[in-house]
Amino acid sequence: MNTNVNKEPGARSQEPAGRVEDTLGRPLHDLRISVTDRCNFRCTYCMPKEIFGREYQFLDRREILSFEEISRLTRVFVDQGVEKVRLTGGEPTLRRGLPKLVAMLSEIESVKDLTLTTNGSRLAELARELKEAGLDRVTVSLDSLDDAVFRAMNDVDFPVSRVLAGIDEAARVGLTPVKVNMVVKRGVNEHTVVDFARHFKGSGHIARFIEYMDVGNSNGWRLDDVVTAAQIVEMIDLEMPLEPLEPQYRGEVAGRYRYRDGSGEIGVIASVSQPFCGDCTRARISADGRLYTCLFGVIGHDLRKLLRSGKTDEEIAAFLERVWSRRTDRYSELRASETPGLPRKPEMSYIGG
Ligand code: GTP
Ligand code: 5AD
Ligand code: SF4
Ligand code: SF4
Repeated sequence: MNTNVNKEPGARSQEPAGRVEDTLGRPLHDLRISVTDRCNFRCTYCMPKEIFGREYQFLDRREILSFEEISRLTRVFVDQGVEKVRLTGGEPTLRRGLPKLVAMLSEIESVKDLTLTTNGSRLAELARELKEAGLDRVTVSLDSLDDAVFRAMNDVDFPVSRVLAGIDEAARVGLTPVKVNMVVKRGVNEHTVVDFARHFKGSGHIARFIEYMDVGNSNGWRLDDVVTAAQIVEMIDLEMPLEPLEPQYRGEVAGRYRYRDGSGEIGVIASVSQPFCGDCTRARISADGRLYTCLFGVIGHDLRKLLRSGKTDEEIAAFLERVWSRRTDRYSELRASETPGLPRKPEMSYIGG
């Protein structure tokens, strides 16, 4: 477990940690680490079978960062101000020995929030071990509670019941609050939004609805496919009245609403209709050790090369500081003025969401 959860907010200012800010004054606060580019699902909007088929070249074992390399990098990032660390993929639970990595990361002082984004398929088996290793909480991706809709969306015929079993187990062992993310796609699962909200209302879990984004190059995104956060809130509010909540911290991705009857809250992630780049404090490391300063980044900075060419922590820190202090990314805000012929962007399964 992390031991510094209750630290005074100002306490860190005494520490030598660099507090690097980018060109728009955004500090580096969150680190999202992809531990594998593989996934056992083939969600049609993320890893469509036509592209991620048998012949698809996933990263080779040697190309992927080792646990030692990940934890070394995490320490360097923490020294630059990172306090939240999220493990992602692909599907992170496919990475062999994941609890060992969690244990290594949970020992790093100053990591106040250590979390995992998973499709939940292996959570029923792994939740306890992950909790014991020091994981704080999990976010589970689940695109519908309608079994037929979900099986069609994950495209590997994976049943809802097994994901729900994973969520239950995560809650039972204390990986809480469990957040459950549903990507809403028009004409595909939008008709199951209200049911989804109803199911988790009063459960202690937080249902979150994500606007479908134009990530990567393989999902054939069209603006018409997006159901906006406002439309989602309206649908739910009609049946179960909601009221907005204040953000808990700068850069919070989800807009929060609570049920007026006091039975919990939901989140909506309006990355298309109301971009939140102005407060974006997230850095991402892909499974092969490339640093992306935007989910839609085109250029990844090769940290693995630095790690494997004998650079010191100080040299890596200086590199990171240079990259972050020059950062100008605000893709979602610029999306509106985008024209066809976009440069190729990394796939969601590679960069980790
Ligand atoms: P909490 O710490 O629980 O608030 O997590 P979070 O909301 O930062 O992370 P989560 O992985 O649950 O993010 C939910 C989804 O929001 C992601 O899967 C993405 O689809 C989207 N998202 C997260 N960060 C960004 C971002 O920086 N830019 C954009 N455009 N979308 C993002
Ligand atoms: N738009 C929005 N969210 C997406 N995710 C994957 N692809 C997209 C997309 N195109 C979500 C997954 C998961 C997280 C890692 O990212 O459903 O919740
Ligand atoms: Fe689906 Fe997540 Fe796997 Fe992508 S990484 S195919 S969104 S489960
Ligand atoms: Fe951050 Fe890029 Fe997302 Fe904007 S589009 S919020 S800069 S990751």
